[in-house]
Amino acid sequence: MRIEDLFGTELPIIQAPMAGSQGSALAIAVANAGGLGSLPCAMLTPDAMRAELQAIRASTPRPINVNFFCHTPPAPDAEREARWRASLASYYDEHGIRVDQIPAAPVRVPFTATAADVLEEFEPEVVSFHFGLPSDELLNRVRSWGATMLSSATTVAEARWLEARGVDAVIAQGLEAGGHRGMFLSEDVGTQVGTLALVRQIVRAIDLPVIAAGGIADAQGVAAALALGAAGVQVGTAYLLCPEATIAPLYRAALKEAATRDTAVTNLFTGRPARGIVNRLMRERGPMSSDVPAFPLAAAALAPLRAQAESRGHDDFTQLWCGQNASGCKEIPAAELTRALCP
Ligand SMILES: Cc1cc2nc3c(=O)[nH]c(=O)nc-3n(C[C@H](O)[C@H](O)[C@H](O)COP(=O)(O)O)c2cc1C
Repeated sequence: MRIEDLFGTELPIIQAPMAGSQGSALAIAVANAGGLGSLPCAMLTPDAMRAELQAIRASTPRPINVNFFCHTPPAPDAEREARWRASLASYYDEHGIRVDQIPAAPVRVPFTATAADVLEEFEPEVVSFHFGLPSDELLNRVRSWGATMLSSATTVAEARWLEARGVDAVIAQGLEAGGHRGMFLSEDVGTQVGTLALVRQIVRAIDLPVIAAGGIADAQGVAAALALGAAGVQVGTAYLLCPEATIAPLYRAALKEAATRDTAVTNLFTGRPARGIVNRLMRERGPMSSDVPAFPLAAAALAPLRAQAESRGHDDFTQLWCGQNASGCKEIPAAELTRALCP
């Protein structure tokens, strides 16, 4: 089955949900162009989520995907936090920041009953998850209005696990992908698989439609994914320079230089592995660290450094999520990009 039949879209393209980088405007533009637009909710309060969903329902009659993280929030670990902050001491000194004055930062939240209450008002046609799935009770609430459910798999084992839990399609997220790795059965970044190898193996291993994600940036890439047996694709990075994305100027500038800058998978910014453009922090500390507080708590200690550096025009401490293939990033309307992605 192709995803056009599963979702009722015209095109086999899902615009990847990208928390912190886009809201309803991008989702609406892609939906109206015939793809599946996505609203990421990991960084939205229930009121903000409601406002975004109202904007979407007012602007397009097309089906929509609403996306959530489903991690278990960790108990704060004061010792680990102190160790991490101590390891950043030279940066705090350089920027005149007092460690005891670092305020709490906004955190990424998982799917909860409160979020399900808001969704029920809108009954989105598709709901997708990252980092596994929420509890059966919450899943049943999403099923109750007939939503199609998706989640990301980064290994064959994760794809089988998702199939056994009753999702309707699996997003095969290859190692090339920008943003957080959806990995949930393994913490070993070293054994993560590229899109070409992952899609083919998952297509063979499960009986559900498989959506390819990671490094797909043009119509040739989409055609290649479909030729591997994918039912559709999920594209993130390529949409980041569209005017509908909400990224800050420094991030935008870094993406324009992406052809000359490396990307790497790093856990420094949030505590979970995610792919982004290599910046000063990643270069000097190495992209992975065992000192980092558990997801999503790691973000707090970096927030004041990021703010200070950004005010001076530097992206030294800014998370610059980006996949390995930024060649599709163009400053063109998202509708145009969506149509251009179709083989
Ligand atoms: C800036 C950015 C933010 C992302 N945020 C999310 C998110 O909130 N939820 C999610 O399921 N995936 C997220 N992802 C991962 C995408 O769903 C997808 O796997 C990835 O973008 C595909 O690879 P590509 O970036 O090479 O197209 C994000 C990706 C990027 C680039």
